[in-house]
Amino acid sequence: MAKLQSLTGKTSLVGVMGWPVAHSLSPAMHNAAFAEAGLDWAYVPLPVRPDDVEQALKGLAALNFVGTNVTVPHKQAVMRYMDELSQAARITGAVNTIHLQDGKFYGYNTDAIGFLNSLKEANCDPKGLRAAVLGAGGAARAVVFALARAGADSVIVLNRTAERGAFLVDDLAAAFPGSHLTFAALTLESLAVLDEKIDLVINSTSVGMYPHVDASPWPADVPMPARVIFCDLVYNPLETVFLARARAAGAATIDGLGMLVHQGAYAFEKWTGQPAPIEVMRQACLTNLKGGDKEISD
Ligand code: ATR
Repeated sequence: MAKLQSLTGKTSLVGVMGWPVAHSLSPAMHNAAFAEAGLDWAYVPLPVRPDDVEQALKGLAALNFVGTNVTVPHKQAVMRYMDELSQAARITGAVNTIHLQDGKFYGYNTDAIGFLNSLKEANCDPKGLRAAVLGAGGAARAVVFALARAGADSVIVLNRTAERGAFLVDDLAAAFPGSHLTFAALTLESLAVLDEKIDLVINSTSVGMYPHVDASPWPADVPMPARVIFCDLVYNPLETVFLARARAAGAATIDGLGMLVHQGAYAFEKWTGQPAPIEVMRQACLTNLKGGDKEISD
């Protein structure tokens, strides 16, 4: 794990605001990046109770923080305090990165660009592809936004709770009137008939995440077509049952580490104005994922 070289009177501060934040990989990832870039910056965990969000934001401004990442459960709650929101933050309804400039709060959602950059890194261009997104939570919202922005041919959202999936699709369809966004319940039957209609499947549910590592959102008795690319946003474990089965079926796979690293890299670049040392950030995450603590979150 990266160690802070030193803190000085000029150290610039950023952090991650969440409740809890103890298992976040972001401090290790960003501090490794600052050390690599030779920046006198430090990234600290900021455990903030849900009732204290407004006070915490005021505190960050008063303490001259450059910015902060925002994680569960504050991604929506911080929005009302932003002076400006990026298009991604506005449309996905969530802020995961704040940049403080001249006393103003700028809110971004770097999950969408992080997801697209992780596809790009795996040589997957979603333009013109037919995608299926499993899940309808915050992560799924960022993914559907990213796919629609990148010109996917169509996106079908499959979710366990029907209303939530329909709501996501209605919301995003209003923002992207030309896109083909549809919804179906996440059932064995709806997955079984996807076969010839999709090129890319993204698991945006939390199914398969530690400690429930034997679970998969794709039932074992539904074949996984070898020509389809299967992508999992879960990165703990890196090889989920979903991806292991897809690989065994001969399909290409993309794991969740890329999105974690690239959402962080984009935040790093917003704050510092410098290119992010992607490989160092990836290694810092890998080291922590392989370490003893299995309870890890973004
Ligand atoms: P995040 O912000 O990380 O996306 P979330 O908003 O809690 O987290 O969303 C979790 C997603 O995983 C949801 O789509 C959830 O489905 P529901 O909307 O039906 O709750 C999905 N999910 C979680 N556990 C699941 C399970 N056991 N089977 C199917 N879907 C599940």
